[in-house]
Amino acid sequence: MSVIEGKKAKEILKKAEFIAVLTGSGISAESGIPTFRGNDGLWKKFSPEELSSFEGFYRNPAMVTEWYRYRRKIILGTKPNPAHLALADLERIVAEFYLITQNIDRLHQRAGSKKVIELHGNIMENYCMKCGKVFDIEEFDCVYEKFEDHVPRCECGGYIRPNVVWFGEPLPEEAFSEAYKAAVNCEVFISIGTSGAVRPAADLPRYAKYNGAYLIEINPERSYLTDIADLWVKGKAGEVLPQFVEEVKKLKGMK
Ligand code: APR
Repeated sequence: MSVIEGKKAKEILKKAEFIAVLTGSGISAESGIPTFRGNDGLWKKFSPEELSSFEGFYRNPAMVTEWYRYRRKIILGTKPNPAHLALADLERIVAEFYLITQNIDRLHQRAGSKKVIELHGNIMENYCMKCGKVFDIEEFDCVYEKFEDHVPRCECGGYIRPNVVWFGEPLPEEAFSEAYKAAVNCEVFISIGTSGAVRPAADLPRYAKYNGAYLIEINPERSYLTDIADLWVKGKAGEVLPQFVEEVKKLKGMK
């Protein structure tokens, strides 16, 4: 049974040489990383305002620092799943390919994807809020050990925070501008594992669609994007995406 249903989808994917993809936490679910809004999502148990906002960090830097150390530990214990690997494969067979992610886990890079646009930063880095110095994991853990209050500070005296975009903060300008250009110029836009609940990332599929792209969604559940999708591949990314990519290869005569 084909996952690419319909003649039109097959024709478009056969010819497509410019594909943009947007991923959300759902693509990492089968690696064991919890999503945010599902039944067992993180925001069902924890408060995003307290843990993923500057106000939350300002009120309780130690708690937020611990929260990201805890999440980073979980993530480092996981590995890319077949969906991440399938996207790295797809990037190799399409002339122009942009992988735009809302995820901070860097599993796409570990799966071999080269051109990854991180809209919400990454959990592997921290930076000083005063001088901007970036700390990788080793450097951060080394500084962290020096502060009994679990609130690491830079030599310049500034607080050190995770290199992630918190609620209410702007996205990295260069990253969003590159993602926007890919969305409005691509032939096919594939949204994978995102509820489409958080803007401006969730606007990208809409920009793509309104600029003539064929919009495909891969998700086991309906999302805020399903109604505007041209094709909804209902399924878990780890199960359907490898087959999807194999079918694209076949359509392009690569198999
Ligand atoms: N395969 C594909 N999709 C899946 C899978 C799976 N195995 N499991 C769950 N999903 C889908 C869910 O149906 C849901 O639509 O993934 C989506 C996850 O949605 P959210 O939990 O809202 O996560 P996301 O869309 O990535 O959130 C966007 O919100 O909290 C912020 O910064 C955070 O980047 C995040 C942003």
